[in-house]
Amino acid sequence: MQSVIKKGIYDVGVEDWNVRDFHGYSTEKGTSYNAFLIVDEKIVLVDTVKKEFFDQLIRNISKIIDPSKIDYVISNHTEMDHSGSIPKLMHIIGKDKPLYCSNLGEKALSAHFGDNYNYKVVAGGSELNIGKRDLVFLETKMLHWPDSMFTYVKQDKVLFSSDAFGQHYAGFEKFNDNISESVIMPHAKKYFANILTPFSDKILKLIEEVKGMNLEIDIICPDHGIYWRKNPLSIIEQYGEWAKQNANDKALVIYDTMWNSTESMALSITDGIASTGVNAIPMHARKWHRSDIQTEVLDSKAIVFGSPTLNNGIFPTIADVMTYLKGLKPKNKIGASFGSFGWSGEAVKILNAEFTNMKIDLVNDGLKVKYVPNHEVISKCFDFGVEIGNAVKG
Ligand code: FEO
Repeated sequence: MQSVIKKGIYDVGVEDWNVRDFHGYSTEKGTSYNAFLIVDEKIVLVDTVKKEFFDQLIRNISKIIDPSKIDYVISNHTEMDHSGSIPKLMHIIGKDKPLYCSNLGEKALSAHFGDNYNYKVVAGGSELNIGKRDLVFLETKMLHWPDSMFTYVKQDKVLFSSDAFGQHYAGFEKFNDNISESVIMPHAKKYFANILTPFSDKILKLIEEVKGMNLEIDIICPDHGIYWRKNPLSIIEQYGEWAKQNANDKALVIYDTMWNSTESMALSITDGIASTGVNAIPMHARKWHRSDIQTEVLDSKAIVFGSPTLNNGIFPTIADVMTYLKGLKPKNKIGASFGSFGWSGEAVKILNAEFTNMKIDLVNDGLKVKYVPNHEVISKCFDFGVEIGNAVKG
């Protein structure tokens, strides 16, 4: 499906309705790979699509112009959901046509596709005239790859923002004025939490820089999901809030269990936390996807991990979630560990060490229970939860 972004600026991207796993991120509503055609004295394609969707990209472009007439290609970001079609595209339009990218974009594109294209490196703030329009390139290094940049169409006030402000959402509604905020914002939040959290400080800095440039923006077009046309600046403001990683009075009790002992502990700890007035969610690690857990982590104060001891270690699903969260570098959190064991009981010690690696302060030394928690231990778990709840409230 195609949309007109502004007169002469077209959405030629594709919907990926059926993808459910995007390199470890659960995409329950699919996604889209957005690409944009600007028809001016020069014909410009901004970004491409995953290589599997190349034919569809070409069909979409063909409804507007003969694809071989494209003069310039702009690659805002090298990750292959946006650059994967470049080789086939350059084969059609001619490999000598200019391919605009950032300095690190050239290096990344060369590493993926070879150095035999006519790369044109653009600096942040530089401009390219394409006829009636000027394109301005904005350096957005590490949002979220070293090569990332934005392209701004000055006369139309359209910002092509690459992955930033995106959502993994496939839909017929291509603008935020066609979809309820309550439907799309959870996808935007999940995207921020899982892709952009580690770059929160850079985002805060970039927002200040963009504000300083006084860019007029009518539409923000990310490379995934819908476009922000109604109150376009509100998503930038929302990014500013998420990037602060302010925590609510909220705690997550993330656990797995072998014979329900650690689960019994988890549920009692959750009750103890909730008794202090703090929102607490018990999250079974085999029932919650790691990317949905991370979305809840974004605005939670406490992360509590529970794991049985298995073969002198932590349970594999808990190791999975812990590794994933560690990479996303959450801030402003406190942590605690618990778990049942049979004979060696290393899990709590390992979890505490992981929290320390993540620079997350521990509420206490943790709670471990041999085999099955009895009534007295369940009561201790409740008190353990109360201690966490009180720590959340500070
Ligand atoms: Fe949508 Fe970083 O690629």
